[in-house]
Amino acid sequence: MSAKLAFFLAVGAAAVNVKTEERTLIHPERREQLNKIKAMATTWEARAGRWAREAPGASAPVLGHLGDNKLNVAAAKERGEVVEFVPKLVNPIPDSFDSAKEWPKCAKLINDIRDQSNCGCCWAFAGAEAASDRMCISTDGEKNLPISAQDVCFNSNVNGCNGGQITTPWTYIRWRGAVSGGQYNNTGPFGNMGLCSNWGFGHCHHHGPQRDDPYPDEGAEGCKSEKSPPGPTKCDNSAKGSHADFKGDKYKFHGTTETASGEEKIQRMIMEGGPVETAFTVFSDFEDYAGGIYQRTTGKPAGGHAVKIVGWGVENGTKYWKVANSWNPYWGEKGFFRIVRGKNECGIEDQVTGSPSGAKWTKASEEL
Ligand SMILES: *[C@@H]1O[C@H](CO)[C@@H](O)[C@H](O)[C@H]1NC(C)=O
Ligand SMILES: *[C@@H]1O[C@H](CO)[C@@H](O)[C@H](O)[C@H]1NC(C)=O
Repeated sequence: MSAKLAFFLAVGAAAVNVKTEERTLIHPERREQLNKIKAMATTWEARAGRWAREAPGASAPVLGHLGDNKLNVAAAKERGEVVEFVPKLVNPIPDSFDSAKEWPKCAKLINDIRDQSNCGCCWAFAGAEAASDRMCISTDGEKNLPISAQDVCFNSNVNGCNGGQITTPWTYIRWRGAVSGGQYNNTGPFGNMGLCSNWGFGHCHHHGPQRDDPYPDEGAEGCKSEKSPPGPTKCDNSAKGSHADFKGDKYKFHGTTETASGEEKIQRMIMEGGPVETAFTVFSDFEDYAGGIYQRTTGKPAGGHAVKIVGWGVENGTKYWKVANSWNPYWGEKGFFRIVRGKNECGIEDQVTGSPSGAKWTKASEEL
């Protein structure tokens, strides 16, 4: 009883910094969680945002990675769908590495932070994003355009918004190919390039502090929970030139999807071929992430989430991965987050996937 009282007082003291107005909006469990994280003085900053009104765990609807990542990839290996990545090079691994700096011709793609809307399609976003990057890198910038998350999410899976796995996008792209496609209504860094199939749902404000994010909250008008539409079979009306031909605008890689696990293998896979797709367990404290190097502090698991690792580094002696999320660029560190590296934090080093480095990529209309 006295330990509990002492804890309560400590939490109460920390809460004094929170503005009165903000305090009335914060869900009591969320407030307790924020104060706990602050008291732990960890390597990341936790802040209240619009999501603060919700109890911890509110991110579950967009956490669309299903099942156990290790088991899923092991089953895909059994089927011959995925093979173990074998490093080709033995060069030293640098302390820090950023794919966007390593391959400047592809930096715009690597830094293109997308928005999965209120749909559990993270697995298709992370796959389409990493595939776009790896296609650009493999072709030395010749094929420099975003691969459509709309095509990958809804044509490789009957209910993509309900979740998927990190092998599916690669199997789909390898065998059937995916068309080009950018962000909702031609927003994002690529603007209107006349690509085939853009993402069809509007932008949303996701978890964490709102800052200047102008988009509606998940669940609010303009960002209602989405049902998976049928997969696209033709290009958008805004598609132009060869991108307007759905069958001809299919991009695919030749070779078998690769997987790696553990810090060093993942680093080598990125150094040789670019960003990779991974999945990790989101604990509810991650919903308060506002910047820094995330490591788990408190909270229950909210679900599995797929994302794209682009590189790594060290800050104040803490090793981290740099990871692109698909919760728009207003979230986290300009859409990215950093997470502790080398400890398999939340399972992020369990298993990553990607096309082989240097794979041949073809566009259907250009094949003889
Ligand atoms: C590293 O130290 C600087 C200066 O004290 C601080 O601003 C920054 O937040 C620290 N970074 C991490 C990840 O702890
Ligand atoms: C789509 O983009 C156009 C051009 O920027 C803009 O005028 C229009 O309002 C946008 N539509 C929606 C539904 O966001």
